[in-house]
Amino acid sequence: MFPWKSTLVIDNLALRAKYLQLTDQFIKEISAGRLAPGQKIPGTRQLASLLDINRKTVIMAFEELEAQGWLDIKSSSGTYVSMKLPITIADNITTSAVPYDNFNIRLINNYDFIPAYEPIPPASINIDGGSPDYRLAPIDWLFKECRSISKSKYGQRLLAYGGVKGNEDLRQALTKYLRETRGMTLSKENILITRGSQMGIYLAMSGLLKPGNNAVFGSTSYDAAEWAASNSQANIIRVNIDEEGIDTDHLASICKQQKVHLVYVTPHHHFPTTVTLSNERRIHLLQLSLKYKFIILEDDYDYDFHYASNPILPLASLNTGGNVIYIGSFSKIFAPNVRVGYLVANKEVIKNLSRLRRIIDRQGDQIMQSAIAESITSGELNRHLKKSLNVYRQRRDSFSKLIDSEVSDYASYKLPEGGMAIWCEFKGLQLAQLKPIINSKGLYMDIDPDLSVRFNALRLGFASINEKEQKKAFEILGPAVKQLASLTSF
Ligand SMILES: Cc1ncc(COP(=O)(O)O)c(C=O)c1O
Repeated sequence: MFPWKSTLVIDNLALRAKYLQLTDQFIKEISAGRLAPGQKIPGTRQLASLLDINRKTVIMAFEELEAQGWLDIKSSSGTYVSMKLPITIADNITTSAVPYDNFNIRLINNYDFIPAYEPIPPASINIDGGSPDYRLAPIDWLFKECRSISKSKYGQRLLAYGGVKGNEDLRQALTKYLRETRGMTLSKENILITRGSQMGIYLAMSGLLKPGNNAVFGSTSYDAAEWAASNSQANIIRVNIDEEGIDTDHLASICKQQKVHLVYVTPHHHFPTTVTLSNERRIHLLQLSLKYKFIILEDDYDYDFHYASNPILPLASLNTGGNVIYIGSFSKIFAPNVRVGYLVANKEVIKNLSRLRRIIDRQGDQIMQSAIAESITSGELNRHLKKSLNVYRQRRDSFSKLIDSEVSDYASYKLPEGGMAIWCEFKGLQLAQLKPIINSKGLYMDIDPDLSVRFNALRLGFASINEKEQKKAFEILGPAVKQLASLTSF
């Protein structure tokens, strides 16, 4: 006898209609072979009373199941599981359905080298690793623009499938913008619109590296770029980093010993230490790339936020050999959730990588891309950049004063010329132990599990929290650091 009462359970609080809940459960039991083809189902009255539900609910479920071909309702003799179904009787009809996580799928590729990402609880105070303050962004303007674009006759077309290289208006606007702001020589055909820098990094590493190729990264570097290279099974080689950025003499000695295929750099400003790549090193790096024929992947995520002077021209603008691939993003300018970035390279690379993009994401958000194009041409982008640059400069200064007043006995740093974070080295305490102490008081920090152990250092993001929030954060961080230092000295 089939255990109707214990198997078919209706949740009175669920959003899904009761007759559909019943339908779903019948389908599961039939598909799993626990209700066999030809098996007689209790009548609607009997089932309704067994399950303690309205008979109408059962009638509706049976009608639905009949319409979908699971049940045959015969007016003369009753209701049966359809004989047409290619299902055999299960060995043990009382076995319950297999929970999703028990499905035995064998993983071919393992992504354990990419640590799980744990978002920070929303209500807490947060010192991140260097994110923008989305509260400053002209979000109203952007979304109003998206709305009016999608309602216009011209813009409506962007709701359809479009080109894989990205929105034409944005590619056009960026061509002019990158020429004017960064001195780059390019045409629209050199631009591929991506979903943020990360997609550009992934596309470049996937499309330009073969398994076993040598990819050079700084001894400290942006981990998500390294993961993209590891995903292409490239061999990762580390080059020294100092106060002027990557040590190009060291790179030259590496190039003499082995073939280098790609060098990943964040010259403006080095991730994570925030130093700016010096002019001498820039020129040397470009010379080496010509001599040894390697690709420079220039991730210019921080270009717009330089406080010491005007932004420094990217390597891509000095590029005489055509072997610099340049990556930029609007996620740092507006908000991390604005997933629009771009990759600049020669036409052949753009053509090829846009094909790869097509199988990952098809085309991206053309309406948002068009709104960003409008922000460039209307001047909205520049107004926002001017405002946020000033705010972030002030926040950098107030944050550094708080380090000086609250934790200077245990922390040392150099004021960064730009970016959104201060690279801070700690002494006399183990950073890994800081987390539980501050978390219990409501403060969360981006304590990188690798960098915090290798260098006992942190990227302290100052841009996303205002001065009041910074003060609150240090009211927790200051005593926590002192407490930890006193424990360590015992
Ligand atoms: C050095 C570096 N590159 C790239 C990214 C990714 O940026 P996006 O949000 O544009 O993908 C980040 C994000 O923090 C970063 O720090």
